[in-house]
Amino acid sequence: MLRGPGRLVTVSVAPVAALAVALLSSLSRCSFLEPEHPAVSALSPYFGTKTRYEDANPGLLPDPEAPRRDPELLEDTCTPVQLVALIRHGTRYPTAKQIRKLRQLHGLLQARRSGDGRAGPAGGRNLGAALADWPLGYADWMDGQLVEKGRQDMRQLALRLASLFPALFSLENYGRLQLVTSSKHRCVDSGAAFLQGLWQHYHPGLPPPDVADMECGPPRINDKLMRFFDHCEKFLTEVEKNATALYHVEAFKTGPEMQNILKKVAATLQVPVNNLNADLIQVAFFTCSFDLAIKGVKSPWCDVFDIDDAKVLEYLNDLKQYWKRGYGYTINSRSSCTLFQDIFQHLDKAIEQKQRFLDGFAAVCPPITVRM
Ligand SMILES: *[C@@H]1O[C@H](CO)[C@@H](O)[C@H](O)[C@H]1NC(C)=O
Repeated sequence: MLRGPGRLVTVSVAPVAALAVALLSSLSRCSFLEPEHPAVSALSPYFGTKTRYEDANPGLLPDPEAPRRDPELLEDTCTPVQLVALIRHGTRYPTAKQIRKLRQLHGLLQARRSGDGRAGPAGGRNLGAALADWPLGYADWMDGQLVEKGRQDMRQLALRLASLFPALFSLENYGRLQLVTSSKHRCVDSGAAFLQGLWQHYHPGLPPPDVADMECGPPRINDKLMRFFDHCEKFLTEVEKNATALYHVEAFKTGPEMQNILKKVAATLQVPVNNLNADLIQVAFFTCSFDLAIKGVKSPWCDVFDIDDAKVLEYLNDLKQYWKRGYGYTINSRSSCTLFQDIFQHLDKAIEQKQRFLDGFAAVCPPITVRM
């Protein structure tokens, strides 16, 4: 039976995108996971959107709650009036679709082994057999949900932001924070974890209450704003529901680079190449990244691929995101206009109120707006 290094490691943090202008403050310790060396794989730089935050930004490792810049540097050059942060969810489980494919691949390896009963080549333990024995580790209910590591990502991000903008994150402003999220459970949960991180900032050492009992209340759900792509007819028709919109991705999946990997992996795992396809290969690759990020374990799935394979699989993922979310089609980015309009309106309003405040009116605009 193969065993991973078995250490639940992890330390991390996680902003994916922060659009900011303005304020917050900080403190408190909540790291209950030891900051030891996280398990690493040579494949890590090629995981794209599945990269651990601390792999993308190793500066987070020494102190995941410390701001990445000196707050005093900001103080001299500008006065924060409002902070608007656009934040992606924290580390999550694979989706049910990914788990189904993984189970299919796992079943293939197990069937092959019990089918012919032979040992690996040269009597050595082969990778296919090792993977057949390796516990799957994921169940359908997990379906893309936020994991504990993901909650930690969010708490630490909140603490860093609060440290970076102490004036904005004053106790007085705490109750005026506005948090909006999409209805995806991983995003709702990320919002709650973010608020719990902030709570620790204001009440160091005290366990955070349920978000419903917090001053600012639970995150508000607004899919029209936060899942703008699901509400954009043109995007839905021309891209999301269009079977041929990702034809470049399909072509690459059956192209020579992928075929080469299929043959290599079939030989390594000793399964017929016809039983494999690009989707199964991709899920095996991502399972290496999920095991690292969620369990802190370098699993045998990481041994299926070399760096050249990783570059091809990274490209495949990039290509999909390019056509589905990125520059491929103009409507992809245009569908976000409603969100950006909302953000800029908030900023304009904050500036306007600041000026009125100088003229003698009270400011009522929320000083901190977080969109997840
Ligand atoms: C689907 O995508 C293809 C490729 O971009 C495009 O030619 C076609 O017009 C799209 N179909 C619809 C209904 O928009």
